[in-house]
Amino acid sequence: NTTGLKDAAKTFSVGTITRSSYISAGGRHTEILKEEFNNLTSEYEMKMNVMYPSQGNYNFSAGDAIVNFAQVNGMNVHGHALIWHNATPSWVENFSGTNAEFESMIEDYITTTLKHYKGKVRSWDVVNEALEDGSGHPLRNSIFRQKMGDNYVKKCFQFARNADPDVMLFYNDYNMASSATKRKAMFNLVDELGDLIDGIGAQMHISYNRPSTSSIQAVADGTVSRGLKLHFAELDIRTNPEKDANVSELSATKASAQKDKFKEVVKIYNAIPLDNKFALTTWGVRDNESWLLDFWGVPDWPLMFDENYNKKAAYEGFLEGLE
Ligand code: G3I
Repeated sequence: NTTGLKDAAKTFSVGTITRSSYISAGGRHTEILKEEFNNLTSEYEMKMNVMYPSQGNYNFSAGDAIVNFAQVNGMNVHGHALIWHNATPSWVENFSGTNAEFESMIEDYITTTLKHYKGKVRSWDVVNEALEDGSGHPLRNSIFRQKMGDNYVKKCFQFARNADPDVMLFYNDYNMASSATKRKAMFNLVDELGDLIDGIGAQMHISYNRPSTSSIQAVADGTVSRGLKLHFAELDIRTNPEKDANVSELSATKASAQKDKFKEVVKIYNAIPLDNKFALTTWGVRDNESWLLDFWGVPDWPLMFDENYNKKAAYEGFLEGLE
């Protein structure tokens, strides 16, 4: 069998995302998952809106398909994400009960989900993107904050810890490198969680030319200094942040710059102490399936494989970052 990224990485898991539809289709996608990766994150099917579509009615079938594939193929699964304002079912957004009833509903949901996946999912993003962008109140005014108070994040971590003392609990957010304000707010939030948290997920949706090496390093340093695991959780590297609608292919210049950025990120991650290592996850396998295409509405080639599942220069960059 070929030596993949997961074999080259040695001291940390190399992850990517998948969907139950990709698992059932098999083919080149699942072959690459098996060759290159040993950690899987569900792109959207282990979020509250999918797992808990109506009160008292859980739907774990898609997550189970991903977990079963991972177990058969000796991969870990990172659970993403129990609480996220962008994946909250409408019945929760429109919850008509008291705040106390809301809180116990959330406790039941977290407990039920963690017990369902106990021993099958190694780690969970308990809360995703609780922080505001900008310098106002650090926390978004989500339904969770409205109903459970400013300390809802800590409450959710406590519910998760009570449900499964063995699973690793992460806080996950974006722009950790590109915004010093947000990075500071994240570390303050994490410090309030004390020993309830095991790790920090920095999403790492970045570009070929930013953020700077030093700001990426600052995310690693702040995590390591707290004795926490670091998950570079959603790495993709835009080659068209200029949003040029007319660009028709990935130029050699941009491909080379993207390769260098992959190398830089992997090098920073690989240099952190073993105790702080967890996983480096890319948010997708091949370029044409990236969320970025719909999100920005312009062409881009943000991942390590092209639309024909061929390795790009970015893949070599990942390997060079391990040298
Ligand atoms: O494929 C189904 C289709 O069969 C169905 O008919 C349709 C209608 O429900 O849904 C389709 O699934 C969509 C899925 O993307 C695949 O395209 C979901 O609706 C849609 O919600 C889902 O969006 C995901 C989004 O998070 C919201 O969950 C994206 O795939 C995913 O890349 C994105 O990932 C987020 C991270 O979780 C957090 N960080 C930011 C990142 C990008 O937004």
